[in-house]
Amino acid sequence: MPPSAPPVHVDLLSDTLTKPTDAMRRAMAGAPVGDDVFGEDPTVRRLEERVAELLGHEDALFAPTGSMANQLCLRLHVGHGEELVADSLAHVLRAEMGAAAVLSGISSRSWVAEHGLLDAAQPLALMIPDGGTYQVNTRLVVVENTHNFGGGTVQPLDQIEALRAGTRDRGVAMHLDGARLWNAHVATGVPLDTYGRLFDTVSVCLSKGLGAPVGSVLAGSRDLMASARIWRKRFGGGMRQVGILAAAGLHALDHHLERLADDHARARRFAEAAAAAAPGSIDPQRVQTNIVVLDVARAGWAPAAFVEEAGRRGIRLYPVSATAVRLVWHLDVDDAGTDRAVTELVPLLADGPTS
Ligand SMILES: Cc1ncc(COP(=O)(O)O)c(C=O)c1O
Repeated sequence: MPPSAPPVHVDLLSDTLTKPTDAMRRAMAGAPVGDDVFGEDPTVRRLEERVAELLGHEDALFAPTGSMANQLCLRLHVGHGEELVADSLAHVLRAEMGAAAVLSGISSRSWVAEHGLLDAAQPLALMIPDGGTYQVNTRLVVVENTHNFGGGTVQPLDQIEALRAGTRDRGVAMHLDGARLWNAHVATGVPLDTYGRLFDTVSVCLSKGLGAPVGSVLAGSRDLMASARIWRKRFGGGMRQVGILAAAGLHALDHHLERLADDHARARRFAEAAAAAAPGSIDPQRVQTNIVVLDVARAGWAPAAFVEEAGRRGIRLYPVSATAVRLVWHLDVDDAGTDRAVTELVPLLADGPTS
């Protein structure tokens, strides 16, 4: 028999791992439903209207995943043989399996952003709104907020505003991959609709820090959302009595939004302990939300070896690059779990791989 994997005591692999709470399950069980492909699910409609209002847009559409929500928005803005630009660590480029090219014939170029942090001058310099007969026309800039692979980075509002000013009237649209926009809002106090109104379309996820089991929502103008509804069906994302899932999202918005601040505080506490033991592994000031990207190579570790040793100690992590591992705080990791992560992982950083 193969040896069984060690038990996981603290799961910091991703904020997508959360299990629905009992209260969320009750809300799901009691939700009124109908056939959403016919626009007859009242709970889905309630969620769409609520998210549209939160994000400052006319309308919204429920989608099964963040990837589909993003891909629908990309499809709305960019035609076959045209291009989008995004930073090189953006989820739409790095982790959606080439969907923009495969599903929509979209060409992509990227700029390099340290920690995923937006500097508006970079996309503005990269985009070619009028490529004529020789160069590819840029139709869309994608901004990710917070930035996942960048380490939960919150995008500066003034840079988003500068980007909007530079794209306006040049035929270049802006899409916000706001899978974790909730975290940016809670970390900064900037209203969701202040972020939302700066973009033509926005996608948000209910299944990450908010703790719903499934679901994302995209938002934009009434016309764009009508078109997105058709493309969602074409992409195979038309769902039926899906109000039971929308109910989880509504419950999450009511009960799990403000508590994201707890995840941020725990992530920061871990980062401060790591930085004290192994200076250079992390700058705690950079930990603005629920994600910690830890440079373990500085302490002599290969990321895969660090992840394996952490696993032996009951902590699950993700190797995010050739030098770093990622830890993500969420609804199912409490103070005790954070203490355990500190106790188990910080000595590994302090002592290096020979300990
Ligand atoms: C920034 C970002 N956008 C989009 C997604 C895609 O979400 P999903 O896994 O629901 O497709 C993720 C998933 O982790 C993400 O981190």
